[in-house]
Amino acid sequence: MGDRGGQPHVAGPATRLPYLVMAPPSTSASPVSATLSELDLRLITQVDEALGTFLNAVDLPPNLKSAVVHAVLAGGKRMRPLLVLHSAAAVGGSFLDAMPAAVAIELVHAFSLVHDDLPALDNDRMRRGRPTVWVAFGEAMAILAGDALLSLAIESATASPRAAGEITREIAIATTHMINGQVLDTLGGFAAQESDRDRLHRIHHNKTGALLVASCRMGGLSGGATTEQLAHLSRWGSLMGLMFQIVDDLLDETASAEQLGKAVGKDREAGKLTFPGVMGIEASRAEVARLDLEARNLVRELGPRAAPLQGLADFLATRTH
Ligand code: IPE
Ligand code: IPE
Ligand code: MG
Ligand code: MG
Ligand code: MG
Repeated sequence: MGDRGGQPHVAGPATRLPYLVMAPPSTSASPVSATLSELDLRLITQVDEALGTFLNAVDLPPNLKSAVVHAVLAGGKRMRPLLVLHSAAAVGGSFLDAMPAAVAIELVHAFSLVHDDLPALDNDRMRRGRPTVWVAFGEAMAILAGDALLSLAIESATASPRAAGEITREIAIATTHMINGQVLDTLGGFAAQESDRDRLHRIHHNKTGALLVASCRMGGLSGGATTEQLAHLSRWGSLMGLMFQIVDDLLDETASAEQLGKAVGKDREAGKLTFPGVMGIEASRAEVARLDLEARNLVRELGPRAAPLQGLADFLATRTH
């Protein structure tokens, strides 16, 4: 990621938002756990409040605002914002300064899901235990709500008090990668000689990995990371991206719709290239465990302030929804 030349187009007023302040994280490492730490739960509440404050203040027609609020404010694990916040703290930054970037990445994520669920893409009717945006508000509104979420994300990124230009550039580039990944996942376009395994990695590196890498980089940038720290966070984010999608694919095969709040078995039905499909379920699980371990070494190298990142990695490796 981040390998494109040229300056980003930075738009919109960079207003500071009234986010809450929190104490920095404790430096003790979390045990492997499928549950989030107290700190993470508190941060999720703060992210939800920041998202609510941001959306409350924007000027949208009421029907569009309802669709956008539906897409953003009910449920969602908020993993990308947590990655932003903990990456910032890992390099000595504050949660407060990282919050506009955390809001921005969650808005892009919501945009990606609203469009991903459309009939022309995955044709899903259920998301986070509720009707998808197109089911609740119609297809035209879902397309427009996705568009609005992207421009709102850019606006929030530009409100970052530090490195706003670089943070905005990160999110723009990652969004392009995400869209590229969605094209590969939905429409293909691979070279004939490319193996299934290589195709799979290319899809997920773009479709899911890009936003997770960007989350870590945006957090790092907001915390004033050195070039070396940023490279470290990128590598860690890339492991998380891969792990995240393997677990998503595994859950699609093994979990229930009630558990996930979305339809299951869709990937196989649609003939998608998935990790369990290409490697098998057991090998996919083993790969998740290996990635979690590799992540642990990188976190250690980042120093004690980075310890909460491992708690998050453990959660992502063992999550059941
Ligand atoms: C689901 O993402 C889509 C993928 C990128 C695999 P999440 O599992 O983070 O979805 P929410 O935000 O928690 O609903
Ligand atoms: C969606 O991947 C990834 C993006 C929206 C970029 P999936 O299609 O696997 O996500 P779910 O399973 O519908 O949440
Ligand atoms: Mg999809
Ligand atoms: Mg989908
Ligand atoms: Mg999926």
